[in-house]
Amino acid sequence: MTDNLNKTFAQNILAKNDKGKYTVPTLRLYPYQWNWDSAFAALGFSTFDKERALVELESLVEGQWENGMIPHIIFRQNDPDYFPGPTVWQPPPSANRKVSTSCYSQPPVLATVLKELLQTDFERFCERGHILFKHALRWHRWWHHERDPHHTGVVGIAHPWESGRDNSPDWDEAMESVAIDPNLDKYQRRDTEHVAPSQRPQQVEYDKYLSILKFGRDNNWNSHIIADKGPFWVADPGINLILLRANRDLLDLAVKFGEQDAQKELLSYIALAENYENSNQGLNALWNPKVNGICAKNLRTDKFCNNFSNASALIFYANFGDYEKKTASLKQIHDILRKCNFAMPSTDPAYFSYEPQRYWRGPIWLVMNYMIAKGLSECSSNMTESTKSTKSDVQNSMKELGNRIARDSLELIKRSGYYEYFNPETGTGIGGNDFTWTAAIRLIYN
Ligand code: DGY
Repeated sequence: MTDNLNKTFAQNILAKNDKGKYTVPTLRLYPYQWNWDSAFAALGFSTFDKERALVELESLVEGQWENGMIPHIIFRQNDPDYFPGPTVWQPPPSANRKVSTSCYSQPPVLATVLKELLQTDFERFCERGHILFKHALRWHRWWHHERDPHHTGVVGIAHPWESGRDNSPDWDEAMESVAIDPNLDKYQRRDTEHVAPSQRPQQVEYDKYLSILKFGRDNNWNSHIIADKGPFWVADPGINLILLRANRDLLDLAVKFGEQDAQKELLSYIALAENYENSNQGLNALWNPKVNGICAKNLRTDKFCNNFSNASALIFYANFGDYEKKTASLKQIHDILRKCNFAMPSTDPAYFSYEPQRYWRGPIWLVMNYMIAKGLSECSSNMTESTKSTKSDVQNSMKELGNRIARDSLELIKRSGYYEYFNPETGTGIGGNDFTWTAAIRLIYN
């Protein structure tokens, strides 16, 4: 019987998906370079080949647009296995003259990965790290200006693809009002030729994804028009919490690189998101009292989604919120885990549109698990003095929960292999196989 947890096995998956200077998430289903997949690939490489890890990040920032955005896909060739490929997007020619890209972004994990990579070998990679730092800073600036044009401290996403959690129920309410464009070109999905349709988003969702894309393309990808009038404009707890975390990590790097203006700028982004003085501003505005957690909010209607998703559980990773918010979120995670066998489902199993097999509507994703577990473990050792009375119980609970989520991640690989996602009830692997970021997560854990 194969020992799935054998690290050489995981390294071989990275090697199989390695295209020289960038890594595809998996062959055929995703034949290009995806943004956050690539950053996690770098983390995986860094466990045995730091140089290759840096190259991965350098190839990722080649996709950066003039305006600072780092796109969600970089197309280096045309591959008929994937739709929508390079010809569909039509970015303005000045956006990026080096490589062809998509026109949305993805969760900004780059800065956090970069900080991790530079934790050791700082001197050796200092110069290249500094260049990457500047790319990450420009990207964060893009988020705070183009995706939060009114400086509220909450950034919006212009497409479910931008969240990286494509068909999460978090977007259902907003997606209901997205009209299918009657002039949409005929297209053929490729994803459902590689993976069972029951594990992928539905056709109606795809029609809407393409209609939102068409709006952007018809408006020459003008971010102001997209933010003001785009058919989809939602605050994603995932992007907002990951960005807050990434700003903190970039700030640490700004100190290391002696970048004083950058420090001020990053502190201002952090302050805007935290806004502790006003309970209804910054990320506080995403606190859904009905759920007791950070939830997605349709920014066109101000309506919350009442799902505590795995992105809501990133509150610890971002180190956001006071003691009450953290303990309430902790309770939510405990309650959710009582309803399934493996941590951490992407949707609360009690939520009415939970589906354990369908992409982001229930299955477990190990990169999310990794960030949630890391956040819990860090928060358990960093609780402040003011919370001393109940501190140790809560600390222990966070620590145990973080350990459990990490343990479950490895258990899922051990039982089922290197799948894209996993059924939280049965532990079965689903979606693509021999998946880069699943292998990366295996390598990160000892
Ligand atoms: C896909 O094609 O499924 C991707 O998630 C979009 O980026």
